[in-house]
Amino acid sequence: MSDSIHSAIVASTSPAGRPIWLLEGKRTAYAFGLDRFGCLQHMYWGPRLRAASDYGEPGPALERFAHERVEGVSQEEYPAWGDIKYLEPCLKVAFADGVRSVVLRYAKAAILTDGEAPELVITLADEHYPLLVDLHYRLWREHDLIERFAVMRNTGDAPIRLEQTLSALWHLPLDETYRLRTLGGRWGGEFQISEVSVPLGKQIIESRRGITSAHANPWFGIDRNGSASETHGDVWFGALAYSGNWKIVVERNAYGQTMVAGGIHDFDHTWKLDAGESFTTPSFVAGFTAEGYGDASRLLHRYQLDVVMPRSTASTLLPVLYNSWYVTEFDVNFENQAAAARKAADLGVELFVMDDGWFGVRDDDTSGLGDWSVDKRKFPAGLTPLIEYVNSLGMEFGIWVEPEMVNVQSDLYARHPDWIYYFPTRPRSESRNQLVLNFGRADVQAFVLSFMHELLSNHKIRFVKWDMNRSFSEPGYPDAEDGREREVWVRHVQGLYRIFAELREAHPEVMFESCSSGGGRVDLGILRYVEDFWMSDNVDPLDNLLMYEGYSMAYAPKAKMMWVNDAFHWTNRSPSLTFRFHQAMTGALGVGANLLRWNAEEMAEAREHIATYKRIRPIVQHGSLYRLASLRQGDWAAFQYVSADATETVVLVFLHASRYGASRRWLRLQGLAPDAQYRIEGAETVLSGAALMARGVQIELRGDLQSTLLHLKRL
Ligand code: DGJ
Repeated sequence: MSDSIHSAIVASTSPAGRPIWLLEGKRTAYAFGLDRFGCLQHMYWGPRLRAASDYGEPGPALERFAHERVEGVSQEEYPAWGDIKYLEPCLKVAFADGVRSVVLRYAKAAILTDGEAPELVITLADEHYPLLVDLHYRLWREHDLIERFAVMRNTGDAPIRLEQTLSALWHLPLDETYRLRTLGGRWGGEFQISEVSVPLGKQIIESRRGITSAHANPWFGIDRNGSASETHGDVWFGALAYSGNWKIVVERNAYGQTMVAGGIHDFDHTWKLDAGESFTTPSFVAGFTAEGYGDASRLLHRYQLDVVMPRSTASTLLPVLYNSWYVTEFDVNFENQAAAARKAADLGVELFVMDDGWFGVRDDDTSGLGDWSVDKRKFPAGLTPLIEYVNSLGMEFGIWVEPEMVNVQSDLYARHPDWIYYFPTRPRSESRNQLVLNFGRADVQAFVLSFMHELLSNHKIRFVKWDMNRSFSEPGYPDAEDGREREVWVRHVQGLYRIFAELREAHPEVMFESCSSGGGRVDLGILRYVEDFWMSDNVDPLDNLLMYEGYSMAYAPKAKMMWVNDAFHWTNRSPSLTFRFHQAMTGALGVGANLLRWNAEEMAEAREHIATYKRIRPIVQHGSLYRLASLRQGDWAAFQYVSADATETVVLVFLHASRYGASRRWLRLQGLAPDAQYRIEGAETVLSGAALMARGVQIELRGDLQSTLLHLKRL
């Protein structure tokens, strides 16, 4: 057996002499190789084994049934639709002569070691047509994650129509029964965890709304028959880095195969690949752990901090911000913003953000979107006096925009009614009284870049909340080139990413937030361009704890922005200020309450909470998260954060309602150094890491909506 080792990607041969490739992470391995037909066959994904020979042979690992040729015996890494195959295909195309079958065979492999992570590129070629497919496998060794994407290349001179272009298909171990965990919801109720035994057939999670969507999030977790917990059990998990229409298909057949395929949704999607052109899919990153959902989340969180988030701020702590949306809504002006700013500064807030309503004629949501000049009725001397005032209070200034939208009542729409998506014979359906601009158009991109450059160049703005408040409808583009009408979905996302990339490059001092009526655009694709996500418009702290549990399955605590609020029309609850602060402190902290109504006592309490948050912020934002207790299983929720060197830990504990007179419970901590001694701040108690993890700490809370914060430091 001859191995050529390039970091942790190994090109080798199987015991029977077939070429195989091993991707070895710190604890996990992924293996595939070539069968005798030159097809790329999956072999293994799980804990690392000792020798290359342990990973077996590429090719049929299952019983062959008489009536099937390929189904059941093939475990292709990237199946294309052609031949006799009925599994979810990664690739489906139509060639210029009308042939709609792709037959891919291995052409070559290369291991690239000059990037941030070692990368294996396998090139497959169609047997007959000039179509090449490069399968990229980037190995994030420290994170035990594999990032996959595909590039289709037309090397001929006739166009090829791509009809399904998934990023990857992941095979799970054969002959197992599995449980699938997904994140679903709706506006005001994002990131609800849902679990189902993987049935025979297909489970599809998807968005066909043009955006990532609040209804389903492009993340999956799969364990063996429900056997995994937060701390134990095999979990395969993954997330798509894409902010448009996507789908993840979990397919199980009666041959014992379970597969997860995902990428850009094929619904209403085609792409014309002209001669010499290439098409790159978004990345689908996935991993395996034998240590439960908690570890799966931490691997994804660390990867986001180390690799995905904008490099300029990845190691910077996010500021405490204030936003007055729930107080003033569209009625912003110098006086009310300045008054709120004074109060916010007094609390120790570091960034003051003005939300919707400052531009065009925007007194409610019926008009103004698209007219991005300052409303002189509200700010007679422009934004500068407010920004300077905010700065004089010691805070940075941030602003809200919604560049992808236009109201019919706007100058922009009067000038460019054709800039939106529409079908000429159909209504232009409005949602929140607005229409979606066609971000695939070069002129629309130029317009957005120009007003954003102007806004950011002429003002000392350090934070932009980029909102997006409706799903697409009537996705027509009458001026599209023939055969490119359905590219609008993908071109919108490409346009969005291009604009973000250019803005970040030109204004490196500006941070961005991704908001889409709350958590409608939370994914690894947009996270390359933004510092945080506004998780939900529902600011009820109890609902937020549940949503945060789901959110944190996939996404890093640092990127979760929620505000301490006092508008609870959602639930009619009356949580204490402490409960609200503790809840918001589980990620990046914001305040959105009407501070003018807070009395001196409340202001003093809030000041103290913010000071506490600033002390624990490095641990919350850059540490590791352990979910210790879940409201899905009872009345308690607890989130523990551990600093990278395990010298400090913070535990935020929440009680929904105490029952039967009980007021105490033990919480076993995680992630500490067993031999180290830790002192609980504000108490005399000193306990070893081992004791804190084996026996735990006793928490005393009583009543409804109670919470506490523990901060432990290593002696
Ligand atoms: C929806 C967002 O989620 C809110 O926070 C707020 O910015 C409004 N849009 C403004 O229109």
